Order: sequence, then C-alpha cells, then structure tokens
Amino acid sequence: MNSEYRASCIIGYPAKHSRSPKVHGYWIDKYAIAGDYRSEEIPPEDIDQFISNLAANGYVGANVTMPHKDVAFRLSQPDRKAQRIGAANTLWLDGEVLRSTNTDGDGYVKSLESIMPKWNQGLSRAIVLGAGGASRAIVLALLGYGIPSIYVINRTPAKAEFMRENYGYRIIPANWDNLPEVLPEADLLINTTSLGMHGQPPLELDINLLPSTAIVSDIVYVPLKTPLLVGAEARGLTTTDGLQMLLHQAVYGFELWFGVRPEVTQEQYDLMASDIPIY
Ligand code: ATR
Repeated sequence: MNSEYRASCIIGYPAKHSRSPKVHGYWIDKYAIAGDYRSEEIPPEDIDQFISNLAANGYVGANVTMPHKDVAFRLSQPDRKAQRIGAANTLWLDGEVLRSTNTDGDGYVKSLESIMPKWNQGLSRAIVLGAGGASRAIVLALLGYGIPSIYVINRTPAKAEFMRENYGYRIIPANWDNLPEVLPEADLLINTTSLGMHGQPPLELDINLLPSTAIVSDIVYVPLKTPLLVGAEARGLTTTDGLQMLLHQAVYGFELWFGVRPEVTQEQYDLMASDIPIY
C-alpha cells in the first residue's frame, strides 16, 4: 500500500451530482489510504488549463465526465483502448506524462460477470441502444469477448455507421423502427442512451418481444430500476443496472491512483443504492 498522500477527482460541468466521490471515498476509508477523491466542477473556459495543470492542482489523476471527455482525450496520451473508442474517462500522471484510458467497457462486462460468470457462452446476438461514447466502449468490450453480431441502434444513423467502419462487420447499424424484427433474436439488450433517466423521455420498447433467456442491462442509474429494468424483471429476465457498472468502471482508476485494487461488494452496492431513487 502507498502511504504517500494522493488525491484524485471527478471533473465535470456540472459535477456535484456525481456519485464517484462516494464510490472512491468508500474504498479510501476501507483500505485506510492516505488520500482523497473530490469533485471538481470546471466550466468549459477553464478546462484546458485545469487538465494541463493537474499535478499543480494537487492531483495524481482524475475521472472525466460530461462535457469534458473530448478535452481530456485531446490533452492526454490515450492508451490503445481509449484511442479505438475515441474517448477517455480516466486520467493519470505517469511522471510528467498525462495518460488516459477508458474503463467503461470493462466496467460493464465486469458488472455482467459478477452476476453471470459465463454470460458470453452461446451469446450470439446483442442489441446496443445508442452510439455515443459509452456505447463505443461497451461494444468494443463485447467484440473482445467474441460476440458474433451486435446491432447498434441509434437516433442519428451516421454514428452507428461510423462504429461499423471502425469496428468492422460484426456491427450491424439499425434504426429504432427495426426493433420489432431484431428483439426476438437478441440474447443481450443494453441501453446506453439517456432515455429512461429521470428528467429524460422514456425508453419505448416492447420488452415482451425478447426471448425468455435474454439478459437486459441499463447504464442509467437514476432511477436505479429504470422502466426497462422493471419490465425485464417482471418477465423474470436477468438484468444488470447502471450502478453495478459505475462501481466496476471505477476499480481500475482507483488502482492506478492509490495502488490498491479495490473490491466491489454487495455491501458497497447497497450503501450507494440507498442514496438513489429506486423508481
Ligand atoms: P455517453 O458518453 O453517455 O454515451 P453521448 O456520447 O452524448 O453520451 O451519447 C448519448 C446517446 O444517447 C447517443 O446515442 C444519443 O443519440 P444521438 O447520437 O442520436 O444523439 C442517445 N440519445 C440521447 N437522447 C436521446 C433521445 N431523446 N432519443 C434517442 N436517443 C437519444
């Protein structure tokens, strides 16, 4: 364990709503680390300066959220994974060099693995709703686990097309109108859009079209049980939620900054969940 004081933070605008300080704060206490994880609300006009001077601002690294992911990517040395995704969510200082990676895809897969260790066995078709940064990270991870075909359904078709160009023929771009045809064949359905989040429009989809063996995931975590997950659970389908992903995506950054690989536990999940509206 590292006894030297270190600090990390979540950089966003806004940032106050972020649950990341609670995730990392829990582990800092649990592993008795001499460190801190803060929230930094940085307006767009100050972001270049803030990230370029991360060490002078007192940090060994950071998580980055909306709307600063592009700047973080541009001002750092992204690893191969972040380069392929075209977005970074985790920064760390390697001497003088600011490096970045993207932990969203692995975080998602780990959240799935934690409830279903053999989730990818026989899984041949996934449907991913959305084609933004989180979708690109999750889809890249699914490809790495050998999933043969992944439908990417997006409001703006060009972004799904772009994913096929970058990730190859296993990506099948489609529209929301195609859902009735593709849902009956899906083994895994993942919502990566903001639809269903508090304050956003609902996600409209007929859950009854999915096979009874399908897994359903939502990366939205406010509310914890989105209407999509409520519908899936009512049908007895296996589900994962956005809080599980949030916890698992945080593991690698914590290890980079504080030198301890933290464990995601049910106790921590329950503690975090107690703070989030269920419906
Ligand atoms: P993130 O980093 O969380 O992935 P993002 O890159 O802004 O965020 O992506 C948001 C995703 O949600 C996109 O796929 C977006 O669709 P568009 O590419 O068409 O914008 C999707 N999304 C957001 N609001 C939506 C809405 N009202 N209807 C359909 N899709 C929506």
